[in-house]
Amino acid sequence: METELLEQAKAVLAANDRGDWTVPADGLYPHQWLWDSCFIAIGLRYVDVARAQKELESLVRGQWANGMLPHIIFSKQNRSWERRHEEAWINPHAPNGVVTSGITQPPMLAEAVWLVGQKLESIERRSWYAHMLPHIVKYHQWLYNERCRDGLAFVIHPYESGRDSSPGLLAEMKRYAWPWWLKLGVKVKLDALARVFRRDTKSVPATQRISPADGIADWALMWRLHRRAYETQSILRRPKFLAVDAGFNAIFVRANERLEQIAASVGDKLPEDLQSSMDQTASALESLWSEAEGQYFSRSLISGELINMSSIAALLPLYTGKLTKERADQLVAMLKRRSQFKVNWPVPSVPHDSPSFDPIRYWQGPTWINTNWLIIDGLERSGFAEEASDLRRKTIELLGKSGCFEYFNPLTGDGLGAKDFSWTAALCIDLLKH
Ligand code: GLC
Repeated sequence: METELLEQAKAVLAANDRGDWTVPADGLYPHQWLWDSCFIAIGLRYVDVARAQKELESLVRGQWANGMLPHIIFSKQNRSWERRHEEAWINPHAPNGVVTSGITQPPMLAEAVWLVGQKLESIERRSWYAHMLPHIVKYHQWLYNERCRDGLAFVIHPYESGRDSSPGLLAEMKRYAWPWWLKLGVKVKLDALARVFRRDTKSVPATQRISPADGIADWALMWRLHRRAYETQSILRRPKFLAVDAGFNAIFVRANERLEQIAASVGDKLPEDLQSSMDQTASALESLWSEAEGQYFSRSLISGELINMSSIAALLPLYTGKLTKERADQLVAMLKRRSQFKVNWPVPSVPHDSPSFDPIRYWQGPTWINTNWLIIDGLERSGFAEEASDLRRKTIELLGKSGCFEYFNPLTGDGLGAKDFSWTAALCIDLLKH
């Protein structure tokens, strides 16, 4: 079964290959996405390490002059209407020659660069790290200079978290970012009309995607950011959405560690101000812990409060590998609790007992392979070898049973969303080869 699965995963990546970069899924996602390409490179390194390097190099061609890494680099061939309203050419830092979005995604680049480098011989590895290091330094400096408060990064649109429609983020949107005309439209059920303009529901059933009203709210917020030319200072003047996401920051902590390792392996010293900011982030993550609920939440920077709605982001701090034994034990207990994350096909993106749990809707219940991969890695690093290998085995079984779908029903294991999804295929290769 494993050889067949491996071949199947390689075939998905080959079909989605666009030369130097890979689309997440043909048709549904025709551009290059930031964290997708990082996960793709992590799997591709076993198949063709030079191609994995190209995947990451093509990501940094979209880097802005101020260091920002955009969440999308738009394909020259595809001029969808979503693309037109997300293009960020109005910002003076945006690069020439490539068209990008004006927001970012979880900082997986340092991890991907590190892991790809581990597959190279020592001389090539050194030059690979030396080549990519300045891009990562500039990106992390941008995160600290423009996007940090009290040591943690904040996001300005739910898309930046990578978990676009996670319940806490949707609730926060509804609380502050829904325009008056959308509230009115929903009252008279006009939001359903959005279906006419949607492209995603032409490839995937609407029940598996974001609701029309939430989709319109995302779109309206993106327009607002666009009108402010994606300039942080201007956005911060009257923010409609500002959140410190637990998942984004868990990845940030790990990325900082990878950045230090990359710099050390080429004998470089990181700029002092960057190093001292980095030193704060791991301990700052603890400010997202809710003693009352016994879990990590994201924080709203508009209300200043923790957003008390549970999602898989609560488990991602494991991936830092830096939690105290007490915290790690608490997270593993959640993972094993039947009412929460223990389901037939773990790990659900929202715990089973949550009122927002929906087994088929995008980030509101389904199991995703990238979050499983992050949790497996975190379990291993936190001393839970047995739990890590159980989850790895179960994930491979799920992929063998259903194929490389975008996400999966955590109760039945059925594949959902896009059929041949690149990061699922890439991480499947990594899980099989590990
Ligand atoms: C969806 C996901 C996001 C991903 C993108 C492309 O928007 O929520 O995480 O990067 O699709 O696959």
